[in-house]
Amino acid sequence: MTTDTNAHWVSRDAGIVHRPPDGGATDRLVLVRGKQSTIWDADGRAYIDAHAGAWLTQVGHGREELVKVAAEQMGSLAHFTIAMDFTNIPTIELGEKLVRHAPANIAKVRLSSSGSEADDEALQLVRLYHHRRGQPGRTKVLVLRGSYHGRTYGGAELAGGRPGIGESPKGAIALTPPWPYHTELYGGEDLTDFCVRELEETIARVGADNIAAMFGELVMGPAGMVPPPDDYWPRMVAVLKAHGILFVADEVVTAFGRCGNWYTSLDYGLEPDMIVLAKGIASGYVPLGALLLSAEVADTLDMGLHPGSYSGHLVAAAVASASMDIIEKENLLEASRLRGRQFLDELGPLINLPIVGDIRGRGLAVGVELVADKATKRSLFEDFPGLKQEIPRFIRREHGVIAAIHGGAVALTPPLVITPDEVTRVAAAVSDTLTRINPRTGAID
Ligand SMILES: Cc1ncc(COP(=O)(O)O)c(C=O)c1O
Repeated sequence: MTTDTNAHWVSRDAGIVHRPPDGGATDRLVLVRGKQSTIWDADGRAYIDAHAGAWLTQVGHGREELVKVAAEQMGSLAHFTIAMDFTNIPTIELGEKLVRHAPANIAKVRLSSSGSEADDEALQLVRLYHHRRGQPGRTKVLVLRGSYHGRTYGGAELAGGRPGIGESPKGAIALTPPWPYHTELYGGEDLTDFCVRELEETIARVGADNIAAMFGELVMGPAGMVPPPDDYWPRMVAVLKAHGILFVADEVVTAFGRCGNWYTSLDYGLEPDMIVLAKGIASGYVPLGALLLSAEVADTLDMGLHPGSYSGHLVAAAVASASMDIIEKENLLEASRLRGRQFLDELGPLINLPIVGDIRGRGLAVGVELVADKATKRSLFEDFPGLKQEIPRFIRREHGVIAAIHGGAVALTPPLVITPDEVTRVAAAVSDTLTRINPRTGAID
């Protein structure tokens, strides 16, 4: 077997990284190259990337500008701690840029290497904040059921524990998520009225003096790209503020144009106490996470906090700054809104299929929720779990498009540089695939 084929590398991968792919060597792709919204596998086959790596390659693949910035920064100074008496210029400039685009109350930044770390640190800091203010009893956190905040122990705590790793912790209290399609969750009541009432009742039951913060994904991503009604977050955050409960906006997915603005907090008129960032911050060219803090929170914490070894990494900061410059120069926030609208228009007719329950999105975070039964809204994947793998593989094989299933939905989250023509090709690929699913057998024919 020659060493330059997909099959060769898949067999070596199975020995060291993954288990063998269940459907044969072609079910795993060895990716070798990318340009804008196109990626190539080791056999030279091209695919349109409707996944953006992990919803994060905002400026597209293969950007020479970023290569140059990274190489120059590595050549001058790649890394030095920002602990003790040290700092560096790329970190200062990135911090200023992140804060300049953020809601007006945001003043400081803490840097790390991933969203999980930033969420984990946020969980520590909300508790430390209340401790410093003489309210050490405020330790519990409110979260949305089914939300995701990373894979550390802190993230698992926020997700209500993880089987085999940690029990459901007493510190996390799950609230009903804002999911407009699933009206059955609200028993006939208006969604926001229901959720605000539930929040107020929960605070009354648990006691505001025991609650540190609420963490919320502004648009639930891993659950299947679920934007809430426009009044949901403003009304929820008003209740939190009235009770001295901090609000942590998890914008790991929604920021940097993914949902059409620098921060989705701006669209909802929110001033979160903390904003968690990662993914699109550096378009995936380097691993980077960040936690933005309001002036009030930063003052209370006094910022005498220990950074990690990689906090303030010069190359990561320089590349993130340059990626943000590209987003600005190429007007990618507007592109995200326009292409997102185009997806919704072109996918719209799919709502007539028996297996399509909901088509929704905000910017280039689009979800097509699949159901086995439109009356009960039961997920198609409950009846046919194998389709979670088969749908993306079919779209890839037949149409040369990379898309994924998240929650109960086909998620479309391409680079923000995707062209109108590519959007049409992706929408056509998804439409063809979903049309060919037999709702009784789950076969794609
Ligand atoms: C909303 C949200 N928060 C946090 C994370 C964790 O980020 P990371 O994978 O960079 O650790 C993710 C990852 O998907 C996410 O979607």
